[in-house]
Amino acid sequence: MSEEHTLFPVPARLLDPSQCPEPYVKSLEEYQELYRQSIENPDEFFGKLATDLLSWSKPFHTVQHGGLEHGDTAWFLDGQLNASYNCVDRHALATPDKIAIIYEADEPNQSENITYGELLRKVCQLAGVLRARGIRKGDTVAIYMPMIPEAIVAFLACARIGAVHSVIFAGFSAEALRDRVQDAACRVVLTADQGKRGGKSIETKRIVDDAVKSCPSVETIIVCQRTGADVPMTPGRDFWWNEETSKCMNYLTPEPMNSEDPLFLLYTSGSTGTPKGVLHTTAGYLLGASATVKYVFDYHPGDIFACMADVGWITGHSYIVYGPLVLGGTTVLFESIPTYPNASRYWELVAKHKVTQFYTAPTAIRALRRLGDEWVEGHDLSSLRVLGSVGEPINPEAWHWYNDKVGKGRCAIVDTYWQTETGSHIITPLPGAIATKAGSATVPFFGIDVAILDPVTGKELVGNDVTGVLAVKKAWPSIARTVYGNHQRYLETYLKPYPGYYFTGDGASRDKDGYIWVRGRVDDVINVSGHRLSTAEIESALIMHHSVAETAVIGAADDVTGQCIHAFVCLKPGVSKHSNDLSKELILQVRKVIGPFASPKKIYLVEDLPKTRSGKLMRRILRKIIAGESDSLGDISTLADPSIVAILIKHVENS
Ligand code: WT7
Repeated sequence: MSEEHTLFPVPARLLDPSQCPEPYVKSLEEYQELYRQSIENPDEFFGKLATDLLSWSKPFHTVQHGGLEHGDTAWFLDGQLNASYNCVDRHALATPDKIAIIYEADEPNQSENITYGELLRKVCQLAGVLRARGIRKGDTVAIYMPMIPEAIVAFLACARIGAVHSVIFAGFSAEALRDRVQDAACRVVLTADQGKRGGKSIETKRIVDDAVKSCPSVETIIVCQRTGADVPMTPGRDFWWNEETSKCMNYLTPEPMNSEDPLFLLYTSGSTGTPKGVLHTTAGYLLGASATVKYVFDYHPGDIFACMADVGWITGHSYIVYGPLVLGGTTVLFESIPTYPNASRYWELVAKHKVTQFYTAPTAIRALRRLGDEWVEGHDLSSLRVLGSVGEPINPEAWHWYNDKVGKGRCAIVDTYWQTETGSHIITPLPGAIATKAGSATVPFFGIDVAILDPVTGKELVGNDVTGVLAVKKAWPSIARTVYGNHQRYLETYLKPYPGYYFTGDGASRDKDGYIWVRGRVDDVINVSGHRLSTAEIESALIMHHSVAETAVIGAADDVTGQCIHAFVCLKPGVSKHSNDLSKELILQVRKVIGPFASPKKIYLVEDLPKTRSGKLMRRILRKIIAGESDSLGDISTLADPSIVAILIKHVENS
């Protein structure tokens, strides 16, 4: 693979003080020295960083305790701080007129700026509403909102009073929302009347109404008016955001929180069972998010940071909300889609707001590349310095297009590898210091002691030119601390597979130069457009349909979305498989149980599935058939009925 040998040096422009602010880390040697300190002397390294980047109402006395062996990681013990104070107050006090949020609304002519001074007032007022509804430190609050400034206000209002927020991506269906609200027994849901995306309206409040029918814990729903649509309101339970906030004072004292007090839950899919509520705590998480905005995006005062993710995913949490705001930066909140009203939307946004750091996913880059270079040409992209990629491995074609057409060869490309559970980037280049390779996440961030393990023996593969599973040897500040209400599951998923290590679930290689190439999941997790889904989750959605006897879901390669979902479905006896509507119904079923982003691209109605004699489903065989590799199926002698393979191959070929 020639990409493995081609190094792209740091663009000269980034190191030229007449053109760019001096990068925080300016050479490979500087990175290596800082990295060494972070690993050999983490107490000093992170103690200093935590003092530099965060404001404490009470200083910590111990930098770290516990770790991966016992699953008892704790950082900055005995310290106290408040996330909302760190993100808002201290900047509002110093520079009240500085812009905190640039809201780029669905309709391009409706963008709006919110200053730190305004943000503080809005956060305090909503915090007051939550207090008035009886919410106290440690209570859980669900946030199911479109990409509007009030969503950020919601995060910070919860943090201000010590409530634990659980943001549920607004693309999730009522049933998925219900499960997540129930799991954490949320007392309040913060939402909006409707959402707007790509010119279409989304019935946000109606979805919430549907969901909470079976959520006895929900006492209050606060509804923000995005469109002013007429939506049903249940007296005594539902309240208008504006009416309630207007009753509350513009200042409310932030609740002092301990470093290890929970900040938020965020549900994510694993290989088995129900989604997990990944729990992040206050100080370590804030440090991870802000340190990576500073070093990985080389964020300088005055920069305009634009992360195109949704606040409903971890990328939005760390790189729209917490990271940029901890640094007192300006963050762009983009409500629309890259192709509305046309495929220049991103580049118009960059030119209009003079964006310096731009962060998106390979799936968006591939989709835009397909639509043609004319959409990116002719826009003034000269403000850009750093272009980020996240969510899945970026293929070299997309990397080069991003680098050449968007970056014009004069920006740093940072391919940032991380996960919901890691809280912030763990493998990534630094703009001024690390030469890149197209498709490699390159080198570990500070404090991340990366290991590649033999998947079978668990032995560490030392040195270069090795391939195995990706793990981390030591706890870092922003690692998730537990799975909400199920610490055993946390231990079993992440810490027990390879004792002493955090297991990522991804496969990876370290090449001859020591660069890391993340290859993708080694478990039953599918990555569709950077959205993480478990095969088990989709299968259980399908099985709930009255016609379905059994299913097997796999991820297949897709040019735009990275992977897409293919579902093999066996029907119950007597159900006709020749009905065209049935496939449509099954797709609807998945949309209903999970959400539109989980829709299968293909459904195969089949007689039987490949299973071993003990009944274990062999997804590997289905994956090979879909990939057109039927000639290398491997050993199929363990199948209960090997003749099924030929039938399946024919079925897939004919569909
Ligand atoms: C999984 C985590 C936190 C980012 C958004 C997704 C894949 C993420 C990369 C990358 C290769 C990547 C991994 C990981 N992934 N970024 N730069 N290169 N793979 O967060 O939903 O928790 O998914 O996304 O497979 O395990 P997530």
